Amino acid sequence: MASFPSLLESISDLSRTHIDTLLSRAKHFKDNPQLSPLHATPKPIIATSFLENSTRTKHSFAVAIRRLGGLYLDFNAETSSLKKGESLEETFLTLFYQGINLCVYRSSVSHQLSQFRSNLPIKLINGGDGVNEHPTQALLDLFTLQELVPHLMGTTLSIFGDIIHSRVAHSLMKLLPQFGISIILSGPTEYLPNELELPAGVKICKDRNEAILQSDFLYLLRIQKERHAGKPNDHFLNYLEKYGVSLELLKNLNKTIPVLHPGPANIGTELDGKLIRSSLYKGYLQVENSIPMRMAIIEAMLLNNDQNIGKIDGEQF
Ligand code: CP
Repeated sequence: MASFPSLLESISDLSRTHIDTLLSRAKHFKDNPQLSPLHATPKPIIATSFLENSTRTKHSFAVAIRRLGGLYLDFNAETSSLKKGESLEETFLTLFYQGINLCVYRSSVSHQLSQFRSNLPIKLINGGDGVNEHPTQALLDLFTLQELVPHLMGTTLSIFGDIIHSRVAHSLMKLLPQFGISIILSGPTEYLPNELELPAGVKICKDRNEAILQSDFLYLLRIQKERHAGKPNDHFLNYLEKYGVSLELLKNLNKTIPVLHPGPANIGTELDGKLIRSSLYKGYLQVENSIPMRMAIIEAMLLNNDQNIGKIDGEQF
């Protein structure tokens, strides 16, 4: 896709046409698992550089790269020269001049990739930055919702839990209303954003059961303690009963609807063991769908013909 951006930091970097094309290519990849359609020579080299823990995102990118016939490089930040004080820009430029075509980057620092907007050292995908965004997770979630209910217009999805520290929730709030999906936010008051700052199509409902009754999908979040920066976070003694979702609760409310979770899930906190093992739970479908969606994203970025990468600004002699 010629117009596809070379920096995917936020859902805002994508037009509706980009998103529709990604959904369609992801479906193609899911329906044709034997294909490896990137016939570039030499084979593209794609690196993941994760400065924060990951099981799903990092490995699904690694699988997606291999399924596309690309070469995968796991850049280990801990043993890299970042630890000797080298800047992120020098690091990315070094990767670019080593012939790496694209880097997927995760960090605990929000908006860290914004500094490269005007001069991109390498093509970059945000694999999750602090509390800001996780755009590829939101895109694979939309792909999963579309698979579950092909006509999403007019549906409602409730996100439960630690909303303000969730980069996935922030990306979903930008993405889903574009497809006519209303979002309800519910959870402990400390974890809810300011109602006055919510985007169109998003509202708060503090009553968990009322939110469930209004929903076509539920989206559960863990308490993201690592992003609480010293704030007390262990005072929710009966979190599951008060704010979480159990299979019994859904049965009692007569709402047997799909339950999504980006992972990692903390069983016994935001959901119970029976729910995660039930057919209502779609977390494993999200994991499965992460591969074709990330294949689509990598393909679109690699094929965008952007020649303006890795430019070294400064005085010329
Ligand atoms: N969904 C998600 O980002 O999971 P990981 O932290 O395991 O990558």
